[in-house]
Amino acid sequence: MSTTTEASATVSTTRYRPSQRILHWLMAIVIISALVIGLYCSYLTPGVPLRRALLDVHKSLGMTALVLIAIRLPLRLSLGEPAYRRPLDVFNHYAARGAHILLYALMLLMPLAGYTTSAAGGHDLPWFGLFQWPNLLPLDKGLERTAAEIHEYGAYCLYAVVSLHILAALWHHFFRKDEVLQRML
Ligand code: HEM
Ligand code: HEM
Repeated sequence: MSTTTEASATVSTTRYRPSQRILHWLMAIVIISALVIGLYCSYLTPGVPLRRALLDVHKSLGMTALVLIAIRLPLRLSLGEPAYRRPLDVFNHYAARGAHILLYALMLLMPLAGYTTSAAGGHDLPWFGLFQWPNLLPLDKGLERTAAEIHEYGAYCLYAVVSLHILAALWHHFFRKDEVLQRML
């Protein structure tokens, strides 16, 4: 009986807290959806009704990501991450650490650059047709162009880092058969 309790205690300490796991998967869905819709929109002619409708959904998802990251980042800084049962080797340790820092930076940068693009351009800032986010910026076409470029190059980085991140999680689970994926489940 005591062995089972000790074993489950060890397992629970190697997983992220429930709040961190919920936020991770919620944000993964929101961000991957925003990426796919954003990518699709970049192939549509500006001004066509389908692009406008999809961009409204895209902006709503992006602003949701901004609210969620504002909760998640302080939580991550205060709760930290669980210890590994078997510590990763030096390369994997630094690769994971670097990728996670980059993901956090991009999760903050992308919605902020998207917001700046729309707000400085004087465009709509809808949230799923329910309300408009306040526009806190003056009309500034130069700022709109710069923010749109940051948003575009940020998206290229995000495609690459998210792809590597998912491949790494699958590699740990199916080839190294270690605990890494379990930590987030
Ligand atoms: C995690 C959040 C976000 C991600 C991953 C994301 C991703 C993308 C991607 C991949 C594109 C297509 C590439 C490009 O043309 O830049 C795009 C375009 C766009 N995004 Fe976002 N975005 C996010 C948040 C936002 C937010 C919050 C807004 C505005 C409120 C926004 C507004 C736009 C606009 C207006 C475009 C079209 C830009 C153009 O064609 O010039 N995005 N986004
Ligand atoms: C199918 C998609 C995904 C899978 C399978 C996945 C898997 C994982 C796993 C297993 C971990 C724990 C790694 C560890 O502690 O060593 C993790 C952590 C993390 N993931 Fe993902 N992930 C996915 C999508 C995403 C996306 C789209 C983002 C953000 C754009 C993201 C951002 C993060 C971050 C920042 C961490 C570090 C944990 C933290 O400090 O909160 N993940 N992911």
